[in-house]
Amino acid sequence: MRRRTRVGEALATIRRRGCLSVVLVFLLAACSTDSPSVLSPEGESARRIDRLWWLMLWISLAVLAVVLGLMVAAIVRRGRRDVEVDRTTPPWGDPFIVIAGVAVPALILIAVFVVSLRDLDAITEQGDASLTIDVIGHVWWWEVRYPGGAVTANEIHIPTGETVRFRLTSDDVIHSFWVPELAPKIDMIDGRTNVLDVRTDVPGTYRGQCAEFCGLQHANMAFHVIAESRDEFDAWLQNEAEPAESDTETASGLDVFLSSSCVGCHTIRGTDATGTLGPDLTHMASRLTLAAGTIPNSREDLARWIEDPQSIKPGNVMPPTELSEADLDALLDYLETLD
Ligand code: CUA
Repeated sequence: MRRRTRVGEALATIRRRGCLSVVLVFLLAACSTDSPSVLSPEGESARRIDRLWWLMLWISLAVLAVVLGLMVAAIVRRGRRDVEVDRTTPPWGDPFIVIAGVAVPALILIAVFVVSLRDLDAITEQGDASLTIDVIGHVWWWEVRYPGGAVTANEIHIPTGETVRFRLTSDDVIHSFWVPELAPKIDMIDGRTNVLDVRTDVPGTYRGQCAEFCGLQHANMAFHVIAESRDEFDAWLQNEAEPAESDTETASGLDVFLSSSCVGCHTIRGTDATGTLGPDLTHMASRLTLAAGTIPNSREDLARWIEDPQSIKPGNVMPPTELSEADLDALLDYLETLD
């Protein structure tokens, strides 16, 4: 008996702590400012998902309250021994069970299904897009191609106030493109192109994340969507489409690039570097992060990344590059001019 009580106490503690940790996780998620949340929507599609989420939450809470109320009423009633229970039921069943247990849940589920279908339709069909961007998933980074020849990585600029169409595919395993504040997640599958329309009126930098487990560095497969005015976007795109500028002062850095293993995997438009395994580096200095959101795009981090990328993002396909201190400095000087 005593042992049973102890087991009961332990279970109660686990349950109590379990509930506490769940509450803590929710509180932390709500307080965290740099983690994107589907509950702070800034895009048209995300707003619909947010409204649907709240509708489902309120319906669930109402159902929970009614069920708990009935349970309490039943317990209280059972405690009163003088209550006479009428056990005669009509041939089609107890009216209470049929109405509250079958008809009402069916009506609620059908209503939510209809609202979901309406939202699904609105999210999929957003009319003509002013811009189409191709995004290709790789282990573990994002290739981004614009009309007109601009190619970038892990950073997607879009104009505000316009519908932008993303054509999404993968070069290897299945990834999932997700910018919680702007749009629903959508799979990226090798050999198939999925389409996602995105529209936001709010300028800003929105963090995106791969949402489908795709291997060792799935968690380090992030990107940013930068929404800006049409004018800012046009200026950015024009610069991005241009080849890298050659600079006599950093020519030795380009020589280091072309004579090391870098050239086998990376393209720098306007030079002899035309590798396609890794990100296009033509304007890499203008990007916010390196290695798909893993480290900031600073000189020190870039140096660490070139020398030993496996210590930063184990399992990624970039090999270490052994360079003398002078060569590394020259290479960094050159890469920093690529904006
Ligand atoms: Cu790509 Cu997970």
